[in-house]
Amino acid sequence: MKPIQVGLLGIGTVGSGVFNVLQRNHDEIRRRAGRDIAVTMVADLDETRARAVVGDQVAVVKDAREVIANPDIDVVIELIGGYGVAKTLVLEAIAAGKHVVTANKALLAVHGSEIFKAAADKGVMVAYEAAVAGGIPIIKALREGLTANQIQWIAGIINGTTNFILSEMRDKGLDFDVVLKEAQRLGYAEADPTFDIEGVDAAHKATLMSAIAFGVPVQFDKAYVEGITKLSSIDIRYAEQLGYRIKLLGITKRTDKGIELRVHPSLVPAKRLIANVEGAMNAVVVHGDAVGTTLYYGKGAGSEPTASAVIADLVDIARLEGAAVAHRVPPLAFQSSTLREAGQELPVLPMADITTSYYLRMRVADEAGVLAKVTGLLAGAGISIDAVLQREADEIGGEGSTQTDLIILTHETREGDMDKALAEIQGLPTVLAPITRIRKEELN
Ligand code: HSE
Repeated sequence: MKPIQVGLLGIGTVGSGVFNVLQRNHDEIRRRAGRDIAVTMVADLDETRARAVVGDQVAVVKDAREVIANPDIDVVIELIGGYGVAKTLVLEAIAAGKHVVTANKALLAVHGSEIFKAAADKGVMVAYEAAVAGGIPIIKALREGLTANQIQWIAGIINGTTNFILSEMRDKGLDFDVVLKEAQRLGYAEADPTFDIEGVDAAHKATLMSAIAFGVPVQFDKAYVEGITKLSSIDIRYAEQLGYRIKLLGITKRTDKGIELRVHPSLVPAKRLIANVEGAMNAVVVHGDAVGTTLYYGKGAGSEPTASAVIADLVDIARLEGAAVAHRVPPLAFQSSTLREAGQELPVLPMADITTSYYLRMRVADEAGVLAKVTGLLAGAGISIDAVLQREADEIGGEGSTQTDLIILTHETREGDMDKALAEIQGLPTVLAPITRIRKEELN
């Protein structure tokens, strides 16, 4: 069978990983795919860098459109990133009849519906295993391995940078800003880490998993996104004392009223496996009605882990290229004609309508009746308390201090009810500083 010819757009960290792994494991990959997979053309603005990776046997050009225009190229791998030029090039590649492999979660989370439709109209495949959790085959698991299930919820540590920062904050008792600088020095965090630390990258990935899990269109604009920049090491310490770790989770859940789609720091019981995922590693927990709870763990970024996912997509395309469209796995797992309808039946819920439990920390005056007032307002809103911890006053202000930290864990409640109760509690004259509220997921 004729080799499948691949054009790479962008040969930085991931692109060079793809090239090197394809070279190194060439024979095994060919035996699996049933044909050769050859990168025959590379576009990169830095032609010298590209040439240093691929040598003389591969055409190197500056202009990505030369790759798209080449009639011999069967598959275009987009590794440029972002929503700008990458979107134009992906749509042009599809229009030129090329299959596309991309690691670009931002592009698909925001413009996925348009891109998947263009691909369906043209009869080409768009594959994106590398877009979520790098080397972990979570897209394959959700689209294929768990296809018998009604997926009930997914919770993932899907951003390595923030997990590294949180792990360091807990291990060393350091504040966010200090650890962020260290992460940048070590190359874990980008020079502009906004998408990572503000939760946007994780929300892109959660959006894709949500669509695949529930058979709804990608809806990044409806995701709730909160990062880790406001987390304080004192909350990590108190959480630990209560038997919890704090992780940035991407969560999507099916409920009777709709879908929850949210990224925010969460307390997770320390005994859960996912609570023990440390450093830059990723992990995703998926709960299906038939299979129960499953866990996927591995490297969410890096040259060869991400290349592993990109090449898995290439092998799928090599095998399915000649197959009728109906015999391919739909990009979002569900047949595209059913997505819109399901999206209407299962809307993404506003945050006021999600249900979760909470960690609350409030700095209060250390005097009679304060705790009773606070718990009374929670009870009035129908919010049940699970645990209370009071930090000794003299740990905060020294001997004779008149302030104390009150830490409360609640049972599950509607977020809108919690908002209302917190507004009332914040208004008490004995509550001396803004209340810290962190959501808590039991994941059982
Ligand atoms: N910046 C991401 C992370 C990797 O820190 O996990 C690519 O998605």
